[in-house]
Amino acid sequence: MTHVLSAVAWPYANGPRHIGHVSGFGVPSDVFSRYQRMMGRQVLMVSGTDEHGTPILVQAEREGVSPKELADRYNRVIVEDLQGLGLSYDLFTRTTTRNHYAVAQELFRTVHRNGYLVTKTAMGAISRSTGRTLPDRYIEGTCPICGYDAARGDQCDNCGNQLDAIELRNPRSRINGETPVFVETEHFFLDLPALAEALGSWLQTRTGWRPNVLKFATNLLDDVRPRAMTRDIDWGIPVPLPGWEDNPNKRLYVWFDAVIGYLSASIEWARRSGDPDAWRAWWCDPAAQSYYFMGKDNITFHAQIWPAELLGYDGRGARGGSPGSYGTLNLPTEVVSSEFLTMEGRKFSSSRSVVIYVRDVLERYGPDALRYFISVAGPETQDTDFTWSEFVRRNNDELVSTWGNLVNRTASMIAKNFGAIPPASDLTTADHELLAASKNAFATVGAHLDHQRVKQAIGEAMRTASEANQYLSQQAPWKEPDPQRKGTILHVAAQVVADSNRLLAPFLPHSAQRVHEALGGTGTFVAQPEVREVDDLDGGPAYPIIAAPIITGDYAQEATWTSRPVVPGTPVAVPTPIFTKLAPSVVDEELARLE
Ligand code: MF3
Ligand code: ZN
Repeated sequence: MTHVLSAVAWPYANGPRHIGHVSGFGVPSDVFSRYQRMMGRQVLMVSGTDEHGTPILVQAEREGVSPKELADRYNRVIVEDLQGLGLSYDLFTRTTTRNHYAVAQELFRTVHRNGYLVTKTAMGAISRSTGRTLPDRYIEGTCPICGYDAARGDQCDNCGNQLDAIELRNPRSRINGETPVFVETEHFFLDLPALAEALGSWLQTRTGWRPNVLKFATNLLDDVRPRAMTRDIDWGIPVPLPGWEDNPNKRLYVWFDAVIGYLSASIEWARRSGDPDAWRAWWCDPAAQSYYFMGKDNITFHAQIWPAELLGYDGRGARGGSPGSYGTLNLPTEVVSSEFLTMEGRKFSSSRSVVIYVRDVLERYGPDALRYFISVAGPETQDTDFTWSEFVRRNNDELVSTWGNLVNRTASMIAKNFGAIPPASDLTTADHELLAASKNAFATVGAHLDHQRVKQAIGEAMRTASEANQYLSQQAPWKEPDPQRKGTILHVAAQVVADSNRLLAPFLPHSAQRVHEALGGTGTFVAQPEVREVDDLDGGPAYPIIAAPIITGDYAQEATWTSRPVVPGTPVAVPTPIFTKLAPSVVDEELARLE
């Protein structure tokens, strides 16, 4: 039994999600996970909200609430956004759980014990006027590498490189624009040079990655420096070492903490499932696979920092060492990074309202229209622009005209002529060809999905639907005088609709259930995630959460990745349309909302 970990980037709990976020990590990871489950693989899909660090502090100040209140607020909003989109997490949790604190601290202690976290004096930015520390996002300036003028104290989002605030040209405080002063401060540094060789050997064994991602990850090895993994900040996980633990102003760097969420969420899922060791099948068995989904500004942290933490934990760097209490942990099979989505030619920006919130799209157009668009036109391997006119065109000309129309006319004709799926009699060459094409599509679409080619996969799945439409036009069952032949044509059409519905189920899970029912099916064809309120589990010190919503689900379902013969005699009623055509005026309405 193949175990597949779907590790999905943790959104910052600093605002509702917009479609840029979910087109990078959300929908692609869900399509992949749903397909893997249909293949009968043991999938564990985990994520949660990323609730520490300066992204949370900056927004909390803006909204005039405490960081804890902010995180509570947006954790709930994000849970609703992602569940509404049908993202089938086994567990979507948060980084402020006691379990996560305990796991993050265990990793820190072991990486430290193995010698890969070393103290060094660094230069930290502080405010001239207030004396306050200004880590990471509190400082902006010009990137010394690419020249981008809004690079941040820890990273440039334009070129993806990690930075130290002191390297920025024209550094300024985001609070009041003043130039910071730099003072000495002690931090723990991840000793990347001692892990570089192990990282390099691991990267060399990686195959099938998107070329941009592998190239970026390999280039990172050209400039390997120790990186600070602690911060002068009071919001985060305490540094679990004597002399540091009780210092309220030193915390783990959010990027040391958040990536550990993949492991802590797996452990939390196991603890909640009643078998606390169940997570090991995904993390300790070298045959297990793990896929990490994110936008390209996260590659450094997933293709370098996280593997380095794991190698340090396992004791596999130049200083040796031995694994901690979790045993030897697997490194990523693949880092699946998408590119950026822009919005009508501009960068997404919540402050300038160049933004489309997931919640609004769900309310106005439903989850599958958005999932279709992202699957067919998302930023899979290159930066991509979202336009409302393209959204409407894809919805109307493809989803509604090709797929919706096929389902609708097939079910209507069956209902009106037979009231149930008719049996097939002698099959013609055209019948055989169409049936073979849709059967073969499982292998073709599946191969694309195994390799993260979501666009090609949905293209092939839709091609089957187009071919079925052509078949119906050619065979014209509405004109067919022989009831037996008419029944055969509609039987073949029903079979291809059923096949296509399975092929499209990973992309369009909500409508797949309805198409299944339109053909007379009952029961759970495709399972959906649910939101549950749970109590925090015990673990490390924390700002204890009393109760919080999680996303989880029971993903046992009928849909498998294989053609199943339709059953003659299954009652079929006149269908209600499953997909909705959008009026062209939607484009202008939406564009008017952007300003
Ligand atoms: N919160 C980060 C971002 O939005 C992503 C974190 S992914 C993690 O860029 F898993 F590493 F946490
Ligand atoms: Zn840059």
